[in-house]
Amino acid sequence: MKALILAGGLGTRLRPLTYAMPKPLVPLLGKPLVCHIIDPLPPEVDTVILAVSYMKDTLEQYFREHDVGREVILVNEDRPLGTGGAVRNVSRYLDDTFIAFNGDVVASADLSDMLRYHRSHGGIATMSLWEVEDPTAFGVVARDSRGRVTRFQEKPDMEEAISNSINAGVYIFERDVLDLIPDGVVSLEREVFPSMLDCGLYGYELKGYWIDCGTRENYLRAQRTLLGISGSSESPGLTNEGAEVVGANMLQRARLKGCRIGPHVYAENGVTVSAGAEVSESMLLCGASVGEGAVVRGSIVGPGVAVGKGQRVIDEILA
Ligand code: GDD
Ligand code: MG
Repeated sequence: MKALILAGGLGTRLRPLTYAMPKPLVPLLGKPLVCHIIDPLPPEVDTVILAVSYMKDTLEQYFREHDVGREVILVNEDRPLGTGGAVRNVSRYLDDTFIAFNGDVVASADLSDMLRYHRSHGGIATMSLWEVEDPTAFGVVARDSRGRVTRFQEKPDMEEAISNSINAGVYIFERDVLDLIPDGVVSLEREVFPSMLDCGLYGYELKGYWIDCGTRENYLRAQRTLLGISGSSESPGLTNEGAEVVGANMLQRARLKGCRIGPHVYAENGVTVSAGAEVSESMLLCGASVGEGAVVRGSIVGPGVAVGKGQRVIDEILA
C-alpha cells in the first residue's frame, strides 16, 4: 500500500525558520515533523510518496542520508499545484486504495481501524474528523447518521459553520478519486470534496490527540502534548552544571549552566544555556545559545542563533 504526504506548502507561518528548512524537516522532539507521520504508518504501507515543491533538494538529501524503513519517492511540482493538483500529479505511482496526509498534522490516528471503517462503508473516500471549538480555520463537515458527509465547507465564517467537526487532514482514497480532479492548480478542499459527496465520502472520528502544526503556537503545543505522553528524556551527553530542570523536557547533548529549564523544552546537540537564564515552552535547535539572564518562552530558537545576555524572547521564532 502507498501513503501520500502533501508537503509542498511554503511553511509561511513558521518563517523565518522555514526560509532555511522546509516544514516537513522542522524537528519535533528529536525527529523531523514528517517522520511523525511516516513512523506510525501501518506495516502494509511499503512506499511513501512525498508531494513537494518547496526546498525539494533539502528533502531529497535528508532521505538519501536517512533510512526511514520504507521506499520514499519525492515528486516535485514546478509550481505549487494545490492540494488536489498535487494528488493528481502523483497518479502514476498510485495503483489502489491509498492513504493521504496533510504533511503538517501530528495525530494519534489508528490507521488500521480507519482502513477497516473505510472498507466497511464502501465509499470512494474516508476523511478523518476532529472536534474543535472554532472551526473557521479548517474544513467543516456535516454528516448523516451513517457517517456519510453531506456538506463540506472550507474555512467558513463563524456564523456560517455547519458544525464543529473538522477535516483532520488524514484521508483514505480509492484510486477513482483521481477522475474527480481536473488538470492544473486544484484545491482538494474547495473543488474536489464538494464534488465527491455524490460518490460517497465518509467521515471517521479520530481519537487521542490531533494538532495542525502550521504555526509556532501549534508546533509548541504538539511538543507539549508529545512530552506529556513520553515524559522527560535526557541524553547521556547532557552537561548539567547546576541547572534546575523542571517538568517534562527532551534534552540532547546540551550544556546547561546555573539556569532554569522547563517545562516543555526541547534542546538539541550543541545548545548552551548560561547562568541565570530561563527557558520554558520552547525549542532550541542545534548549536543555539542563550546568554546570561536571558528569558526564552513560547519560542523557537533556530540553529546556531545566539540569544544575547539579558534578552527576552517571548512568543517568537528566531532564525
Ligand atoms: N504538494 C503540495 N502542493 N502540497 C501542498 C500544496 C501544494 O500546492 N499546498 C498545500 N500543500 C500541503 C501543505 O504543505 C500542508 O501539509 C497541507 O497540504 C495542507 O495545507 P495547509 O496550507 O497547511 O492547509 P490548512 O492547514 O490551511 O488547511 C488544511 O488542513 C486543515 C487541517 O489541518 C485543509 O485541508 C483543511 O480542510 C483542514 O481542516
Ligand atoms: Mg495546515
